[in-house]
Amino acid sequence: MSEIETRFHGRRRGRPLRAGRQRLLADGLGLLGIDPAALPVGSDPAALFDPRPRAVWLEIGFGTGEHLAWQAARNPYIGLIGAEPFLNGVARLLAAVEAEGLANVRVLADDVRPLLNRLGEATLERVFVLFPDPWPKRRHRARRLVARPLLDRLARTLADDGRLLLASDDSDYVAWMLRHLLDHPDFAWTARGPADWRRPADQPPTHYEEKNLYGGPGATWIEARRKPRGAA
Ligand SMILES: C[S@@+](CC[C@H](N)C(=O)[O-])C[C@H]1O[C@@H](n2cnc3c(N)ncnc32)[C@H](O)[C@@H]1O
Repeated sequence: MSEIETRFHGRRRGRPLRAGRQRLLADGLGLLGIDPAALPVGSDPAALFDPRPRAVWLEIGFGTGEHLAWQAARNPYIGLIGAEPFLNGVARLLAAVEAEGLANVRVLADDVRPLLNRLGEATLERVFVLFPDPWPKRRHRARRLVARPLLDRLARTLADDGRLLLASDDSDYVAWMLRHLLDHPDFAWTARGPADWRRPADQPPTHYEEKNLYGGPGATWIEARRKPRGAA
């Protein structure tokens, strides 16, 4: 794995956090934070939760965490792991976790890739990558997170038939993500018709989806399944 491929491009901090939020961040990460360097290779992410959840879902780049908190509140028997290097966003999620009393959330306040490298084969049931930074300039395309190296990690860590949900409102990135997905031998795109490009019924809009920063006609959602291992 090259250093370039695992370099995080983005911001880790926004406006200075008020003292209360700083305390919440330190205390919350002390309780719920994940340190990939402390995990053995091949780790079972369900072991990060007590009680042990029925399955583990991962959200990569949760931003300010509204979607993650929504999923955690509606799926109490699922363990939700969120990865996000933007600390102001992490503090927002931790505030929601505290306010809503969510007991099934764990947080990596950093790049997701070192964590994926430590997780065991087929240990995740569902992965969300919603509105990843599109890096629209041609010279920045190598920074796009959804590309073969990430898909390889997700193909290893997703269980058979595990669900991968991608979304973007940048049409070039949508085409890029779809091409990388279709090129990958371990994923199958589940869409059958135009309705399958829209947000699935069991998903809320995310913060970025509501902002519609790129001003296009709306978001495109791509759902894929991890093909069963050993299937012809
Ligand atoms: C455009 S924002 C979208 C946030 C949220 N998913 C939403 O839809 O509102 C993309 C987020 O991905 C995060 N991100 C970028 N690279 C990442 C990485 N390697 N691991 C985890 N998060 C990452 C960024 O910090 C940013 O907050």
